[in-house]
Amino acid sequence: MSPGPGEPGPVGSVTGVNASEIRQAYLDFYATRGHAVIGRANLVPREDPTTLFTGSGMQPLIPYLLGAPHPAGNRLVDSQVCFRAEDIDEVGDARHTTLFEMLGNWSLGSYFKSEQLPWVFEFLTAVVGLDPSRLYASVFGGAPGWGIPADEEAEQLWIGLFSGAGVEPTVLDAGSKQRAAAMGIGDARIVRYDESQCWWSRSGPPDTMPPGEPGGPDSEVFYLFPQVRHDPAFGVHCHPHCDCGRFVEIGNSVFMQYLKTGSGFELLPQRNVDFGGGLERIAMAAADSPDAFAVDLLAPLMAEIDAMRPARAHDGNRGAHGGGARADDRAKRVIADHTRAVVFLAFDGVEPSNNTQGYVMRRFARRAMRQGLYLGIESDLLAALSDVVVSIYRDAYPELGERASELRGVLEREEALFRKTLARGVRELPRLAEGRLTGEAVFKLFDTFGFPPELSLEEAASTGVPVDPAWEPSFQGLMDEQRQRSRTAAAGMFKGGLADHSVSTTQLHTATHLLYKALRLVLGDHVVQRGSNITPERLRLDFSHPAKMTPEELEKVQQIVNDAIAQNWPMQVKEMTPEQAFGSGALGAFGDRYGPTVTVYTAGDPEGDWYSKEICGGPHVTRTGELGRFRIVKEESSSAGVRRIRAVLE
Ligand code: ALA
Repeated sequence: MSPGPGEPGPVGSVTGVNASEIRQAYLDFYATRGHAVIGRANLVPREDPTTLFTGSGMQPLIPYLLGAPHPAGNRLVDSQVCFRAEDIDEVGDARHTTLFEMLGNWSLGSYFKSEQLPWVFEFLTAVVGLDPSRLYASVFGGAPGWGIPADEEAEQLWIGLFSGAGVEPTVLDAGSKQRAAAMGIGDARIVRYDESQCWWSRSGPPDTMPPGEPGGPDSEVFYLFPQVRHDPAFGVHCHPHCDCGRFVEIGNSVFMQYLKTGSGFELLPQRNVDFGGGLERIAMAAADSPDAFAVDLLAPLMAEIDAMRPARAHDGNRGAHGGGARADDRAKRVIADHTRAVVFLAFDGVEPSNNTQGYVMRRFARRAMRQGLYLGIESDLLAALSDVVVSIYRDAYPELGERASELRGVLEREEALFRKTLARGVRELPRLAEGRLTGEAVFKLFDTFGFPPELSLEEAASTGVPVDPAWEPSFQGLMDEQRQRSRTAAAGMFKGGLADHSVSTTQLHTATHLLYKALRLVLGDHVVQRGSNITPERLRLDFSHPAKMTPEELEKVQQIVNDAIAQNWPMQVKEMTPEQAFGSGALGAFGDRYGPTVTVYTAGDPEGDWYSKEICGGPHVTRTGELGRFRIVKEESSSAGVRRIRAVLE
């Protein structure tokens, strides 16, 4: 059977390629080229209040890309486990996962393009063994509006590399993605795209970058799967940046040499390379399999899910779902992806909850279990798959093996809680249905009790409740509305980098500055911010202080913050060098790792004294009066010598 558009065909069994060997080969390749192998960072960024999860290999290295010396030197390599919760809607196709490993190498002002691109090519062709005629490269075509020229050097390097491998190095100037889709690439091997595709920063293209953010032109490598037919739903013609799945990006070299300023860009003090390559995707290319879930980092999960399905479910006839083999594959991929993510989140210390990272984890766990129900798996899903995840990764991450039973316990408890909620839904169903199961009731059961619609239909059938024949469109309508709502929230909450710019988070961020200063005023200058975590609901600030705060101290701090709000001071932002910033009394929240310029936010009377001054990437409200009433909810110990305050705005 030939695969349909955009689909690699039925989910296959594991490929013969060993992804762990690719990971090791990559680390070795760069180690022999003078790179220090560094450990991965936690999935929860420890000292970054604006980002929920580590979503790229460079994120923990920002200070060093900006110019601070890294203790391990100026050539680094690692494999960073990354989590991109914002990709949740994408999961289910053959190549998107929310958790993935990013192979990364960095030059911190050491080598540049003429070393990096030949190394990428050598690694992919000579070490991984990819056929050069399946590889395509993108290069930056220039952003004249920003005064940034096309990357001719990268283009020339690719021409040399492809010719050397006997592949005709034709270049095409495509510009935008839309233009590329309209014109097609013909026999081009190297495609120039504008800054919407071939520019990388944590916050996207130049116009979306906040001041103080580093970025630069990039050059990607794509692998062509000719066995996947182009899907015209994504544009008339296929091209490397097409989303149909025929081309898959397997690596990206970012030439990080620019810093966004208030008015445009300036050069960073050093020219950096930031390379990221998806391990699963490189393994897909190595196996010539367009299915990421056939890679050995995911395939054992797919096999276990199959093994857990009740026998009658395999023929695609189970109960009401009737979605066929393709829908089953989607469900299996969601379960495999989400469970793997949830296990790694637990590994990195996240517990399911209704807040921030814990909330995301809970959402992923429940989505996996709902898909499990769809496949007829009604118990022990997460715990069983947690063991499989551990067995896949224990060699690469030995601690995972040591903590296997702890992680299993976290998942088991979450599953028990979910099943209890489901049972409550079963009891509620007749009451909610009020004699007839409508789309609204199906939605409510889904939304409140986590009931997949097919389960509601089954329950209704088995308890003799009639079903409104028009339930589906009304259910879908309510789902669409909800998706819209959560997308709006997620756009603020989970975008990579300095991203949650939602109003309440921004207000709480400003409140954190006011609180930090108030703590120093009340307790003394030994108070130093040790960590901060802000959600739309509350702020959390960790700071050094040797003793539990007294109720009087807490009351005083709260009063000072509320006074500062009542003053309705402007929050002014200014760029300066770190020396100027510290010289003017600004506090640095995260130690001394700063680049050549920093942004400083000042709250205070523009004509008189300032109240607080901090080096910070923002965002903040314009005036403190926008904050409402500040209330401390809790003061507790965080670790030895570190206290933690949670507070809200009302
Ligand atoms: N930081 C670059 C990326 O995430 C390599 O694609």
